[in-house]
Amino acid sequence: MSDQPSTPPPVRPAQGRHRHRAPRTRRLPALIVAACVLALGAFVAGTQAIDLSSGGHPALAPTFTSVPLPPLRALAARRGVITGAGINARLLADPAYAHLVTSTFTSMTEKNAFKWMFTEPSPGVFDFRQTDRLVAYAHAHGMRIRGHTLVWHREDPGWLLNTPWTRAGLRQVLRRHVMTVVRHFRGRVVEWDVVNEPITSRALRHDVFSDVLGPHYIADAFRWAHAADPSARLILNDYANDRPGPHFRAEYRLVRGLLARHVPVDGVGLQMHHTLANPPSAYGLLAVIRKFAALGLSVEITELDIGVPLPPTAEDLARQALLYRQIAYVCASQPACTGLTFWGGDDADPNRGFPAEVGDGTLFDAAGRPKPAYNGVQQGFARATRRP
Ligand code: GLA
Repeated sequence: MSDQPSTPPPVRPAQGRHRHRAPRTRRLPALIVAACVLALGAFVAGTQAIDLSSGGHPALAPTFTSVPLPPLRALAARRGVITGAGINARLLADPAYAHLVTSTFTSMTEKNAFKWMFTEPSPGVFDFRQTDRLVAYAHAHGMRIRGHTLVWHREDPGWLLNTPWTRAGLRQVLRRHVMTVVRHFRGRVVEWDVVNEPITSRALRHDVFSDVLGPHYIADAFRWAHAADPSARLILNDYANDRPGPHFRAEYRLVRGLLARHVPVDGVGLQMHHTLANPPSAYGLLAVIRKFAALGLSVEITELDIGVPLPPTAEDLARQALLYRQIAYVCASQPACTGLTFWGGDDADPNRGFPAEVGDGTLFDAAGRPKPAYNGVQQGFARATRRP
């Protein structure tokens, strides 16, 4: 590898919201943790649950090297991959956390602030104060913002869910919402999750939009978003679409149909919320990226986290690191895969996606120190070369 030796980004001492957290096993000095990870490598090789054939690329193999690598941000830039963090904007008031996020990632997704209940809390009354501040903050730090999300069945205002809509009435309200939000951020938010989670296990989800408007609400939302900002990348974001299966197949049919009708869909977002007990498959991921790419779509991993049992053992952290390495490698080696966003800046971030006994899905521990997962992503990026 030609990569220059270096260390992970400097992280300031824990302070603010971190300092009240109870000590956990992973707060042992980094050297001890690293030694445990290396010592457990052979054990993990025999027990890790995902199926990796021996013919795979070395970056997919369940072994670790201790080669020092450049910081993640530099490696990702070298590979042409955007790396992001899903964040809560208010946490950026903590200087240590803000430094960690801005020095590690090139993209931010506010986990909630762009959702309908916050951007249009009352009918026709839009509130962009928090999102405007965040967009300005991101740009001041050379970072991109993902707009997440315009249309979703959750985190909607009560007035939207509780009105007995006519078709024409809801269509007009949806159009106003999508166009007002996208137009407001025109040129400043370059990528939108236009529709989030439109599919259940194998069919179109029943929600206020599909029940009142029928399946065409999806095409409408994309067309209105495109009209409001023709240069924005428009994404259909979902869960359970990162491996072949019924959900993926339903989604594939949906986007293929949209493209056949010239609906301006640019890409598919793979949320990728997982746990060690239900891990992602690197080969499954590769297969779906290639399938979507063959339709001319890009793919972005938008909410990646692989939760570990709490508190995690060194073996759990090593398995998590291996999975992150595989995912980073697959994304960085596929030209269609534009970016990889982790759902949280560090493990102190609140994450409502997991049950209480599972968590710590980020690259940094609750005190902001890089975990083995950070090194796993470095290794995945370092090994990858872009090829179809
Ligand atoms: C979905 C949404 C995210 C977030 C998670 C739960 O993945 O897209 O915005 O709300 O659920 O943490």
